[in-house]
Amino acid sequence: MKVGIIGYGSMGKMLLWKFSGSGIRKEELYVANRTSEKLGEAEEIAVISSNREVAVNCDIVFVCIRPVDLKDVLAEIGPELKKDALLVTLNGSITFDMIEKVVEHKTAKVIPSLTAEIDRSQTIVCYNEKVTDEDKKILESLLKTVGDVIELPENEVGMGSELVSCMPGFIASIFDVICNSAQKHTEIPREQIVSMVLKTMSATGELMLEKKMSFEDAVNRVATKGGITEEGTKVIYDLFPQAADMMFEKTLEKRKLTAQKAKESFGS
Ligand SMILES: NC(=O)c1ccc[n+]([C@@H]2O[C@H](COP(=O)([O-])OP(=O)(O)OC[C@H]3O[C@@H](n4cnc5c(N)ncnc54)[C@H](OP(=O)(O)O)[C@@H]3O)[C@@H](O)[C@H]2O)c1
Repeated sequence: MKVGIIGYGSMGKMLLWKFSGSGIRKEELYVANRTSEKLGEAEEIAVISSNREVAVNCDIVFVCIRPVDLKDVLAEIGPELKKDALLVTLNGSITFDMIEKVVEHKTAKVIPSLTAEIDRSQTIVCYNEKVTDEDKKILESLLKTVGDVIELPENEVGMGSELVSCMPGFIASIFDVICNSAQKHTEIPREQIVSMVLKTMSATGELMLEKKMSFEDAVNRVATKGGITEEGTKVIYDLFPQAADMMFEKTLEKRKLTAQKAKESFGS
């Protein structure tokens, strides 16, 4: 089975190197990029190709490019793809309906998370109705090289993406705010504050998963009645819901606008 990647940017590069690291041999891994000079370093692990060569040779083709460029690339590779090839796109805003106007192949949408870099992605995946169980098995075994795989229906891919693909950004910004605030009240150097908070955050998540603790359990274990932690958790439960609601309202609104733009770029 040959795996191809079109677009050697943030996602394409990450997937190519992870697939190679998982044991896919160079002869079975193809890569193409608009700026071919960027592919020099990939030469040791993949067959450097054009978009057309990827389409002609590969059984699974990951199109790792931005939505604005997607229609043209699909139109270019569509006629060249093997009849039974599985096309994989990486953007939640491009619907199967839009893709099917250009390419009639079996298609999967895959949304990895930044945490794939340490093999701990929770990759969202959804399929059009042409994809078989065997295709799903093959794709999921590839994606498991970077973490867990979560299949969702197409209408839930947006919220799924918020929860796993956007979440590293949300989490980082929340704890950035917390570290900034801590800094105002201590002489501990910023670097040390960040390290203390990050390690505690990561360990808290691990602890809750391992011991099957709910958020309430974790809060109750630390915030004893009348104690110091309780003062802080009260503030968070009083004031943070408004920010969290607004965050999802804004991101989901932006997602709708992006989907509308994508629709227009596909001429619908
Ligand atoms: N970044 C994330 O965390 C993330 C997470 C989940 C999903 N996604 C989705 O993944 C997709 C790719 O995102 P990205 O962050 O990897 O984008 P990116 O870093 O901008 O990479 C896009 C790549 O596509 C190449 N490209 C553009 N037009 C091409 C063409 N006609 N033929 C061949 N290659 C072409 C670009 O080549 P040049 O070198 O010439 O620019 C660039 O290397 C997007 O749909 C994005 O929404 C991203």
